[in-house]
Amino acid sequence: MSTTQSILDLIDQCQFSDEDPFEINQNLFPNLKEHLSIGLIKQLEAECYANWLNWAFEGESRVSVFYKYIQESIDNNTVPYFSHMSVDTKQQIHDYFDEIVNEEREHRLIFKKIIEKTNLAKRKNYRPDFFDPDSAEFKQYEHSRYAHVEMLFPLALAVIGESYLLSCFLLFYKQSSNPVKKQLFKHFLTEESQHIAHFLNLIKSGIYSDQAKDRLHHSFLQSIQDRLNFEKAAVNVIFSRLQQGSDNKLLHDQHLFNTVAYSGKLHESFNKLVLRRSYQFYHAVFPDVTEDTFLHLVENYHSDVLIGSE
Ligand SMILES: [Fe+2]
Ligand SMILES: [Fe+2]
Repeated sequence: MSTTQSILDLIDQCQFSDEDPFEINQNLFPNLKEHLSIGLIKQLEAECYANWLNWAFEGESRVSVFYKYIQESIDNNTVPYFSHMSVDTKQQIHDYFDEIVNEEREHRLIFKKIIEKTNLAKRKNYRPDFFDPDSAEFKQYEHSRYAHVEMLFPLALAVIGESYLLSCFLLFYKQSSNPVKKQLFKHFLTEESQHIAHFLNLIKSGIYSDQAKDRLHHSFLQSIQDRLNFEKAAVNVIFSRLQQGSDNKLLHDQHLFNTVAYSGKLHESFNKLVLRRSYQFYHAVFPDVTEDTFLHLVENYHSDVLIGSE
């Protein structure tokens, strides 16, 4: 039996609730208990998981197409940063991308199976038929997203996404009380750490012009800021959806959420992890920047800085 099949069988044995699908048995936002109603907190937590699961499913589908695209671009010498590499090195990279693409396609199936055990499967934004790496329409759509931008942007987004995903898997692995689900996260952790190692080597081996570095700097910092604070943006979307007219109570709750929800130990250590993983990539391109300087740069980065395209 293949590893994927055995993982899919493990999922078959489990239940996945909307409010605590990974059985972390801990409130995601313990600080909110004193401030918001239990009903609202539960709703926000369920929204975090729903959004995360859908993001992960779409992400695994997307990278299945994108990594194939990078592989072909390196083969065809259309990415200037990697065109200096020897034929042998390119062949190794090519072969490893084959493995990664297969793994990402398998991860997609795992998320699909989990989602279909939750109520998220009934939502309109869950679109497994569209997010299918074998669908010509999906491939074309994805290719059109990066056809007119420099390869560095989607690449930076993908590696920071990998760092975020790995940090989430580690969080769930550590916190889950269900041994079967722990096994599932261990499987993800092993494979995603290998992807990170591969992308680190790839990024380190690139030769970047000063302009490309400057753009990469912005692209990294922007992507990292978007990934800090587990699912904060998703919760704010929920507040906007709940907001009808000018409900002052809800505005107050949203303000409280944004000021206290992420100050606990769980989120502080999660953010630390995302930053540490992301720094590895940033450091690969900017070896002279220390981790402290990097943290300062992330903290003070303003997302309204324009990122240029080719
Ligand atoms: Fe993956
Ligand atoms: Fe990956």
